[in-house]
Amino acid sequence: MAMTDSITATTRICAVYGHPIKHSASPAMQNAGIAALGLNWRYVAFDVHPDNLREAIAGAKAMRFIGLNLTVPHKLLALQMVDVIDEAAKPWGAINTIRFEGRDGSNWRPLAELPSDIETEIRSVGFNTDADAIIRSLKEDLSLEIRGKRVAILGAGGAGRAAALRIAQEQPSELWLYNRTESKAAEVAAQIEQTIPSIKPRLGIPKNQVDLLLNATSLGLKPDDPMPIQGCGFDLAQATAVYDMIYRPAETPLLQAAKTVGCKTANGLGMLLYQGAKALEIWSGKSAPIEVMRQALHCHVYGHV
Ligand code: ATR
Repeated sequence: MAMTDSITATTRICAVYGHPIKHSASPAMQNAGIAALGLNWRYVAFDVHPDNLREAIAGAKAMRFIGLNLTVPHKLLALQMVDVIDEAAKPWGAINTIRFEGRDGSNWRPLAELPSDIETEIRSVGFNTDADAIIRSLKEDLSLEIRGKRVAILGAGGAGRAAALRIAQEQPSELWLYNRTESKAAEVAAQIEQTIPSIKPRLGIPKNQVDLLLNATSLGLKPDDPMPIQGCGFDLAQATAVYDMIYRPAETPLLQAAKTVGCKTANGLGMLLYQGAKALEIWSGKSAPIEVMRQALHCHVYGHV
């Protein structure tokens, strides 16, 4: 039996903390990736109440976990609880990945590169792999590069805000923001104008053709939800491609309707895949085995590859 087949005294741990956590697909995806890389690691999920998050992160550090993922509701809170924040994570005001690092002389090295029993000072470093995952998913799953494109985003909650800010960085030619509560869309627009002055977001629904319509609202999660474009006057035939951040169900009514009128479509599973792949790369320093992770994720979420 290969070393990686069984848990031994040198097996290292990665984990995801969330509340709730039991439906997380990350353990299935990450353990498949870890096995394919031949690492003697395991990735487990813990239900951590926000009141205990600081202690749980300290515990992982004391036990020399390789790293952590953070999911709802910990991504904002954890920002205050790490020793160092990666520069690229700072604009997002949220982290979803922690890497533990040990001091090696005057350098810090990922714990993955150090023996588990080495006596050294350890620090936690926070990263955000969610933001780039949306851009990568649009590219891989819809063959869409945002630069110079017309984009309309529905929703200005946590997910919509992050998507709008990250998409704005890619320099679309038009960026439309629509939200039930318009003041929230206006806040996001103001933040974009402040940080990326070349982009002037427009509030509301475009009248003309767009290259991408992106749903970042929660409408579509429940079977009896109305479509997120219902009553807003947008005709799906105006969109070349439609992306729904929701991936359960695999095909929301929005995606079904979009397919019917000939739009290219993709759901948000790619975002989950690419944020996870990037986290594994941050911990291991190796290229993530994307196809293995994609298959494990599909199997877990949809019950088939
Ligand atoms: P997330 O972190 O998933 O973005 P959120 O911050 O609660 O969750 O945001 C949910 C998004 O779905 C918001 O854009 C919300 O619109 P409001 O800002 O007006 O609340 C949108 N949403 C949720 N239920 C909705 C509904 N019934 N009709 C229209 N939009 C809805």
